[in-house]
Amino acid sequence: MKINRKEFLKLTGLAGMGMIFNTGHANQRTPFRGPNIQKFNMHGYAAPKLDTVRMGFIGIGGRGSGNVVRYASIEGVEIKALCDPVAQRVNSSVEFLKNELPWHNPDSYTGGKDDWKRVCEREDIDLICIGTPWDLHAEQCVYAMEHDKHVYVDLPVGVTVEECWQVVETSDKTRKHVYMDCVNCHGGIAAVLLNMVRQGFFGDIIHAEGHYIHDRVSNTGSRWVRDPENNFFFGYRPWRLQENVNRNGNLYPGHGLAPLSQMMDLNYGDQMDYMVSVSSNDFTMSDKMREIAEMDDYYKPYVGLKFRGNMNTTIIRTHKGRTIMLQHDISSPRPGHRFDLISGNKGIYRARPDRLATSEQWLSQEEFNSITEEYTPEITRIFNEKVRKAGNRRTTGGAYSRVSPSDWRLIDSLRNGLPLEVDVYDGALWSVISPLSEWSVSREGTSVKVPDFTCGAWKTNKRGMDISIREGGTTNLV
Ligand SMILES: NC(=O)c1ccc[n+]([C@@H]2O[C@H](COP(=O)([O-])OP(=O)(O)OC[C@H]3O[C@@H](n4cnc5c(N)ncnc54)[C@H](O)[C@@H]3O)[C@@H](O)[C@H]2O)c1
Repeated sequence: MKINRKEFLKLTGLAGMGMIFNTGHANQRTPFRGPNIQKFNMHGYAAPKLDTVRMGFIGIGGRGSGNVVRYASIEGVEIKALCDPVAQRVNSSVEFLKNELPWHNPDSYTGGKDDWKRVCEREDIDLICIGTPWDLHAEQCVYAMEHDKHVYVDLPVGVTVEECWQVVETSDKTRKHVYMDCVNCHGGIAAVLLNMVRQGFFGDIIHAEGHYIHDRVSNTGSRWVRDPENNFFFGYRPWRLQENVNRNGNLYPGHGLAPLSQMMDLNYGDQMDYMVSVSSNDFTMSDKMREIAEMDDYYKPYVGLKFRGNMNTTIIRTHKGRTIMLQHDISSPRPGHRFDLISGNKGIYRARPDRLATSEQWLSQEEFNSITEEYTPEITRIFNEKVRKAGNRRTTGGAYSRVSPSDWRLIDSLRNGLPLEVDVYDGALWSVISPLSEWSVSREGTSVKVPDFTCGAWKTNKRGMDISIREGGTTNLV
């Protein structure tokens, strides 16, 4: 099936305009299609094992260049192709590999904006790694799977409800994996907390909170001054600026949602039911555009446009009666915040600073240290040992160039023929919050049903994320 973006937009637009089905609750709507009949359940599916994972990379920008370094530093990976319309970005990654990891000798694709299709069409590639602007992700995921490739995609898998369904349905049909980067769900405090949840430290989970609070506006030098040496690139990103004009809601739920989703067994034991979403007005972006348009004419067309509100708050209720709060704010001057809170009927964790409590008093720092040490899962111990043996994690110094336990486990699972621990249903669920929040925000916070991409299989799916590494764990870092 060939994906047609115009059809996607048309379908979603139609849904937004009129296809509203009353579900029986006075205030609750199901404006988007579903449930569907699942053709094949990719949860728990193990694809044939690959001794060598041959990779092609599409989009070698800020994140994509880091993706190249990280995956090139994992045993059993062979980098076959790098693609970006900006030749300079491909060339500098090729140069890095030549100097640092010379056993990789990728072909370069820098000719045009559709070159990525040629990478997907190659027969000597197993895994396509997508690090492009959001509006290309669904089309690229689908095309790659239809050409017999597994997919790593930086979040999200799609920007509309329909795009999320297309990615899920193509994965079910082709039996190709889609792994949406989950930013270290397998490491750090997130892995410790997942272990604590599973061992019952917090009792029954009642509520969780996760955010994407990341000030991308205040620092004019790093965010808005365009770099003539690098294609007039600027830190906020041209495409991201555009997304923030067109859309109003939670545009980036994945970072906060991924860890708590695993702690709450979403897609395997519980499922999101419905959500409401409300946004504040914009209090900074319009002013910022006026300020920087004085410095650079490039920004003049953005003066006077309506921007996404600073703070979006989304509240989700699950079928088992638990709640989740997600917030998104990338334009207020404040310290960053991602996964934030998990609360059960026996205890609570809250971030920044990290704290634990089992009553109304926070436990001491000593108690916190000793409990988190006790609950550090096997995956963390094994991964840290791999890092120690490799000498260090290779890095260009860039923020995205150090191999994470999640990267390592993805390749390890493919090489050992294991099911992926973050599957296509996780990626779709974590992505669909954005278009649903836009829908709800534009209707004064009207409740909206969350599509069940598992088509009911969440009731019987076995738990994902093998943090004890009962199988695999054999791949090293280089
Ligand atoms: N997981 C994380 O921590 C993390 C961090 C940063 C970004 N991201 C995600 O990574 C993705 C990319 O973000 P970024 O900050 O690297 O953006 P970027 O603008 O730096 O990079 C995007 C790259 O895609 C290229 N591109 C555009 N059209 C293309 C096409 N048709 N074919 C091939 N390449 C094309 C651009 O030339 C650019 O080099 C986004 O989804 C973003 O949300 C994830």
